[in-house]
Order: sequence, then C-alpha cells, then structure tokens
Amino acid sequence: MTPTLSEMELLARQAGVILRAGFRQNIEITAKTTSIDLVTEMDRRSEEFLIGSLQKHYPDHHFIAEESGVQGQDTAHIWYIDPLDGTVNYAHGIPIFAVSIAYIRDGQATLGVVYDPMQDECFSAERGRGAWLNGTPVKVASAPGLGSALLVTGFSYDIWNNPVNNLDHFARFSLRSQGVRRLGSAALDLSYVAAGRFDGYWELQVKPWDIAAGALIASEAGARVTTVNGDAEYLSGSPSIIAANPALHAELFSLLHAPQ
Ligand code: IPD
Ligand code: CA
Ligand code: CA
Repeated sequence: MTPTLSEMELLARQAGVILRAGFRQNIEITAKTTSIDLVTEMDRRSEEFLIGSLQKHYPDHHFIAEESGVQGQDTAHIWYIDPLDGTVNYAHGIPIFAVSIAYIRDGQATLGVVYDPMQDECFSAERGRGAWLNGTPVKVASAPGLGSALLVTGFSYDIWNNPVNNLDHFARFSLRSQGVRRLGSAALDLSYVAAGRFDGYWELQVKPWDIAAGALIASEAGARVTTVNGDAEYLSGSPSIIAANPALHAELFSLLHAPQ
C-alpha cells in the first residue's frame, strides 16, 4: 500500500484537533534537553495518535519522531514526524504551531504536510507535482534582493551556551532586509516561504522532523532549499537550512558566509 497526500492531510488535521483541544488548557509541561526546550502532554498525545494510525497501515515502515525516537525496520519508507512544531509558543498560549509529517521513499522526500490547526491552513506537497495551501497551488515570492525581503529564522535550544547561536546573523540580516521574524515553528517558516509570505528562511541547527515536510513544500513551490553550506542533502547529518527563491538564496548564502 502506498501512502497518499490526502491520507496524510486527514491525519494531520486529526492531530490538529487534539492540539486545539489542549491549547490554553491546564496541561503538563516539562523540560527536555535544556530548561528552555519544552515538551507538553499534547506533543506526546499528538505523536501517539499519528504513529499509531500510520503503523496500522504500514507496520514495517521506519518512523523517526521527535518524542518517541525511532521505530520500524524498513528504511525504504521513512516517516519524519513532528507532532507539535512550535511547542514553546503552544506552552505559552501563542497560536503559532503546526503538525508536520513527511514521507521519504527510497531516500527521496516524496510527500509532505504541515497543518496549522489555529488558522486551519494545510500546506502540502508531492515531489514533482507541486505545493498547495488548502488545495490551492502556492508559489514562492519573487523578492529580487535582500532590501525588499522579509526573512524568518530560528534559534536552537542550546542558545544560552553555544557560541554558534545565530545572533550575529540575526543582527546582520536585520540591518540589510525589510525585517527578520522569529515565528517559533520551522515547519510554518518553510510553509510561509512556500506561500510567498516570507521571502527567505535560514536556521543553523534544526532536526529532520522540523524541516522534512516544510522543505519539500518550499522546494515544490519554487524555493531553492539547501543546508547553510549549500548542500542539497539537507536532511542528512546535523541539518541546517536556507530556503528562498534562487536569487535570494544566493544572497542569503553569501551573507551567512561573509567575514564578520
Ligand atoms: C522548534 C521550532 C523552532 C526552531 C527550533 C525547533 P519544536 O521545534 O521549530 O522554530 O527554531 O529549532 O526545535 O521544539 O517547537 O518542535
Ligand atoms: Ca520542531
Ligand atoms: Ca516538536
């Protein structure tokens, strides 16, 4: 049985119902790797629902999910699942978060869905067929250069202690672009690039489940998507990311690599 985009969209919407139900409720919140890296009981419930549902149809597939780790043997079929991207927003009652599901077939990102349950916006993409927002095709913006570009970035949870913390780049791009936002959801950052809302996105340290679906959506919408070092294999190793229309991607790349 082959997974379909409509099946994934339905699951993401159902997980979104779970997240909406717990939003601004009295839920359990704990810290993970650092005191600013949070997990809520709704991250876990959403993930249990998604993996449980997918395993009923695809028991041997390989699942890589943020909260429960790795399950399943068949690495020809890999699923990256972020059951709640934007946990810190969620924990603070800020309605910017999403469910992210990506399906990788034989090493190629093939299907991706990012669902924002508060805006009821479902971003999706199928390799070679395009990207959509609630079924309508989306396309990246055509900002010709940094001066007219609205950018977005993010920071990893080791920001208090890691000298490679992206704050230098944040300052530089703030002085050269129309503005730099920090939404707090990598999946939505990429989906907003796909929809032409943001012109470009970069982040120095992300996890595959943060970006797998959104990167396919941005790429199918016309973005160039690479690691910060320009590598097209953005899911391997310790991922980082640049996503923007090709002309702007080149500018982001060179400013990220310019001497301080
Ligand atoms: C985080 C968000 C954030 C990004 C971090 C991610 P989480 O994911 O996507 O925008 O800057 O790098 O870890 O913890 O909310 O799933
Ligand atoms: Ca995430
Ligand atoms: Ca998450």
